[in-house]
Amino acid sequence: MRVAVIGNGGREHALRSVLSRTAEIVERPNDADLVVIGPETPLIAGLADELRASGLRVFGPGADGARLEGSKAWMKEVLQSAGIPTARHQAFADAEGVAGFLESLPGPYVIKTDYQAAGKGVLVTDSLVAAVDDARAKLEHGGIIIEEGMTGPELTLLCVCDGRRAVALTPSRDHKRVGTGDVGPMTGGMGAFSPVEGVDGDAIAKAIVQPTLDALRQRGIDYRGVLYAGLMLTPDGPKVVEYNVRFGDPETQVVLPRFAGDLAAFLSEAAAGDLQAEPSFIDDAWVTVVLATEGYPGPVRTGDPIRGLDEAATLEGVTIFEAAVARDGDGVARTAGGRVVNVCGSAATLAEARRRAYAAVEQISFTGMHYRKDIAS
Ligand code: GLY
Repeated sequence: MRVAVIGNGGREHALRSVLSRTAEIVERPNDADLVVIGPETPLIAGLADELRASGLRVFGPGADGARLEGSKAWMKEVLQSAGIPTARHQAFADAEGVAGFLESLPGPYVIKTDYQAAGKGVLVTDSLVAAVDDARAKLEHGGIIIEEGMTGPELTLLCVCDGRRAVALTPSRDHKRVGTGDVGPMTGGMGAFSPVEGVDGDAIAKAIVQPTLDALRQRGIDYRGVLYAGLMLTPDGPKVVEYNVRFGDPETQVVLPRFAGDLAAFLSEAAAGDLQAEPSFIDDAWVTVVLATEGYPGPVRTGDPIRGLDEAATLEGVTIFEAAVARDGDGVARTAGGRVVNVCGSAATLAEARRRAYAAVEQISFTGMHYRKDIAS
């Protein structure tokens, strides 16, 4: 099978790497038997619809389903209509009522944009004043959602959907704040690990993700792609923090390498609306650490040479997925975006996978490089 993957981040490099075990990777969608769309922006803009209309087999939802990520207010409506547990919330198009609603919540307060913000449009704060200020600032660019903060460990459950069935991949956990110790602003994700002990992904898919897919179907939406359930494992059970409509980044980098079998065939069945295969995962543990450049998650510095990538990649149990790396005419690798490199360690235990990832991180350097020191700890 020939597969084209749209997108060029760490997630897409991991996708190409795992798909290439059983399929030929091609550049152009028109040359492919299957097109896998990585990022949310083209999905929300309707690329999957366009490619399907030209006769291609596509893994990724159409613009109707991608609205789940494009509009958090609509996502909440879908969840509420299906009785799926999520945080108490209210949507606002202007500042009227914002302060009053925030005052009615016990805190922490969660302020989310109802427009795309590349995983960086969320503030979680204990400060009522900071919450009001942030809500007002975000409202200058579009609508917002205000939510009651939930407590508990987070979980990412990626489910592959064929329009009717939502099939869980192995669970993973992301680390979304920029700083070690879970401090600082939210990011797209600074590192992840898989598996997550003591979590039954199939049970959560049955209780939460399948009813979401059913609710989409009731609205006439034939959702073929990934439903990414961002969950909080609260004392009252799992609740939805967010849905994304594509593979997670960096969760994909620790989930898909553990996929046992033919990923291309699996995604192709889902894209065709007839998912028969059941996924299984090899037993080892994966940890990925994101190396980010100066300024991330704000405006970033780029163009700096990256040292040590090749040396790091030779270490035992280490895999590097480049995320924002550009090579100049002399072949020198340079930083080209906020999240630059995913450094992955794999081993029989999570502790050893973590040790390997951080040993490889020590080999790599570039100006302004920063990373979390507590991924999977
Ligand atoms: N890692 C979070 C995301 O993919 O949105």
